[in-house]
Amino acid sequence: MESLLLLIYLIASITFILGLKMLSNPKTARNGNVVAAIGMALAIAGTIALYTDASGDHLGNHLWIFGGLAIGGVIGTMSAKNVKMTAMPQMVSIFNGMGGACAALISIIEFKHLVHDFQPELYAGGGYTYFSTLDGTSLLIIMAGLIIGSVSFTGSMIAWAKLDGRLNDYAFNGQHIVNILLLLVTIGLTAMIIILRPEETITFFYAALALSAMYGILFVLPIGGADMPVVISLLNSFTGIAAACGGFLYDNTAMLTGGILVGAAGTLLTVLMCNAMNRSLLNVLIGSFGGSAQAGASGSGAQGNYKEMSLSDAAVLMSYSSKVVIVPGYGLAVAQAQHACHEMEKILTEKGVQVTYAIHPVAGRMPGHMNVLLAEADVPYEKLKEMEEINDEFSSVDAVLVLGANDVVNPAAKTDPTSPIYGMPILDVESAKHVIVNKRSMKPGYAGIENELFFRPKTSMLFGDSKKVLQDLIAEIKNL
Ligand code: TAP
Repeated sequence: MESLLLLIYLIASITFILGLKMLSNPKTARNGNVVAAIGMALAIAGTIALYTDASGDHLGNHLWIFGGLAIGGVIGTMSAKNVKMTAMPQMVSIFNGMGGACAALISIIEFKHLVHDFQPELYAGGGYTYFSTLDGTSLLIIMAGLIIGSVSFTGSMIAWAKLDGRLNDYAFNGQHIVNILLLLVTIGLTAMIIILRPEETITFFYAALALSAMYGILFVLPIGGADMPVVISLLNSFTGIAAACGGFLYDNTAMLTGGILVGAAGTLLTVLMCNAMNRSLLNVLIGSFGGSAQAGASGSGAQGNYKEMSLSDAAVLMSYSSKVVIVPGYGLAVAQAQHACHEMEKILTEKGVQVTYAIHPVAGRMPGHMNVLLAEADVPYEKLKEMEEINDEFSSVDAVLVLGANDVVNPAAKTDPTSPIYGMPILDVESAKHVIVNKRSMKPGYAGIENELFFRPKTSMLFGDSKKVLQDLIAEIKNL
């Protein structure tokens, strides 16, 4: 039985690795998700059916287990089916928080077991500390799971509330010092828990739980809105590590592999996002970029004049171009204009225009946002060009259509050292012959700053909701 369960865990671990690999390509991502989900279902079913404890007993509490699985399954399926594309980061945040809470709950339960099973005779003899008894390592892992899991839980809940517009950024003087103190006290409490007899440390244990939960709140509260995806990714890696602690504790290889993979993937994603914005993680965590956007900064508007373009002029320009590049951004997701966008692209292609999409790594509000959005509308993957690839091609492009993107095409990132986005690589749309920018107004994007591109001679503004504008453009192009 035990070896069969081990084999199941091995198969599950392999499916996690395969699934993660497949997730790195939009073509295989859906199947990757299914493969990893099958592995997880297998590991859960195997544990319920085959796991036996030291006394050879199978898992009991079937009502609780299946009840929990049913409730969680229904809530998970309904939320995933109903979530709007623009609310995806919030959902990721909530689900991630639940993972952190589970890891912390495991630690609470296992700490109680340790206290209950403690053998004083081992402790009393020959100057043993509790840590040097057999349960000492477990205790350390329990504490790691408790601290990291609860930071991840409360941090993710605050991230969710901020992304959902229910909470504003909040910071007070000396907040970073308070955070460091909280961490130091929590580490001190952990040391006391390891040194003292377990029944003496129950209060310390709950104090460590409360302080780490508070740390999670204070750590995320001041971070600016645009930096939330980075923070969520970081919290995601915390949850992975906390889950891996559970895997160690239960000697469960599937849980351990799953946790390590989530921890590693979350860390890599955090680093990649920081690189894409040309900022250090420390700068994201203690900097204030993005905060101004939450406060609704609108800029001075003193950039000169911009010119507007009519729908028919835009339709003519694109129809008689040989090369058109579409730059999708957050506004396209808000407008849910991906299907209309694909339709226009097909009509232009039928007219002999070569149409491609330029994908900026942090366009939208989550990693791969634009890829997922366009894949939803069945845009062929070959049409999507990464920033590095397309930037060299813009000089041969006749018209660029910027759809609800702003920061990712803002030249200030290259030219203005005082700009909060200075250093972030951008799409060089200005190298093209004509630039058409579609958005609803002259309001700034998420970084809360003006965009010089809108005032450049090559640029024409095409105001309106992306979906409506695209539908009207389709009608105009068809009439040509
Ligand atoms: P943004 O700079 O946020 O600009 C989006 C623009 O869309 C806005 O200026 C808005 O202007 C327009 N818009 C909104 N709704 C619209 C609608 N229904 N129809 C037409 N336009 C609409 O978007 P971006 O260029 O995609 O840049 C993403 C930002 O998020 C960057 O600052 C990036 O650093 C940040 N960020 C992203 C990530 C990831 S992983 N994607 C991670 C961290 C930070 P109007 O209000 O005038 O319409």
